[in-house]
Amino acid sequence: MAFCPDTILVIGAGHGLGLGIVKECRSRYPNAKIFATYRRREKAKDLIDFNENSFQVDPLNEDEVRAFCETLTNVDLTINCVGMLQNREGQGPEKSLRDIDVDFMTEVFQVNTFVTPLWAKYLKKKLSRETQSIFATLSAMVGSIEENEIGGWYSYRASKTALNMFLKTIAIEFSRSHLKTSVVAIHPGTTETELSKDFLKGIKHKVWTPEGAAVNILNTLEKCLLEGTGLFKNWDGRTITY
Ligand SMILES: NC(=O)c1ccc[n+]([C@@H]2O[C@H](COP(=O)([O-])OP(=O)(O)OC[C@H]3O[C@@H](n4cnc5c(N)ncnc54)[C@H](OP(=O)(O)O)[C@@H]3O)[C@@H](O)[C@H]2O)c1
Repeated sequence: MAFCPDTILVIGAGHGLGLGIVKECRSRYPNAKIFATYRRREKAKDLIDFNENSFQVDPLNEDEVRAFCETLTNVDLTINCVGMLQNREGQGPEKSLRDIDVDFMTEVFQVNTFVTPLWAKYLKKKLSRETQSIFATLSAMVGSIEENEIGGWYSYRASKTALNMFLKTIAIEFSRSHLKTSVVAIHPGTTETELSKDFLKGIKHKVWTPEGAAVNILNTLEKCLLEGTGLFKNWDGRTITY
């Protein structure tokens, strides 16, 4: 039976892939209620105009996350799109050990790794036990230990590897009570966004628009419902080795 979510939550939807996913959800699941969160209002104008249930929530502030999650009755599809590669000062990603900096590593891990378990803590009781649901986070291929052949990007890579471990562990906990929930880490494919724009020069493979990437992501997530939980997926449906 086709996946038909009643309630969708997109975290970090103010722009980029998150906004693309909100738009694709609206056309793919026209009857669903879509909750979207953003942090910086000045960057979220298109989202706020497009989606009425859009709320300002700092995804790392536990009080704000708890209060927001308490307003939800249930969630069938959650996609966390929060992530960073370089900071507001233009620092990172590291080319070599020379660039290692504890403050930068801490910031990258907070944003890329800690958001997902924090939200999982408050969303677990909002997932249906009777119907299918998906709990997904945008990860990155470079987080694969097996497929790391070129090195560099220490913090980004390692923060995504740690994120994948959180998701795998969340999948195990959820599987004890929520047999119909798929927990997925998904690589969206290279996509032109604020995060990637300084790193696209010379890329030879396809660069997606956020809207195009969102189609791939949702196609793959729907298929995951048939495959199980604790999966690390490429945008085209391929399973990536952890
Ligand atoms: N674009 C790509 O090619 C690509 C490739 C592989 C993986 N990904 C992953 O896809 C996800 C979405 O990235 P994107 O390309 O759509 O980038 P983006 O347009 O820059 O969006 C990043 C999101 O993360 C939020 N964010 C950034 N720093 C934050 C912080 N310190 N605290 C709280 N929220 C913060 C932003 O919120 P505000 O702007 O509101 O602060 C925004 O919602 C990321 O996890 C990224 O690693 C992207």
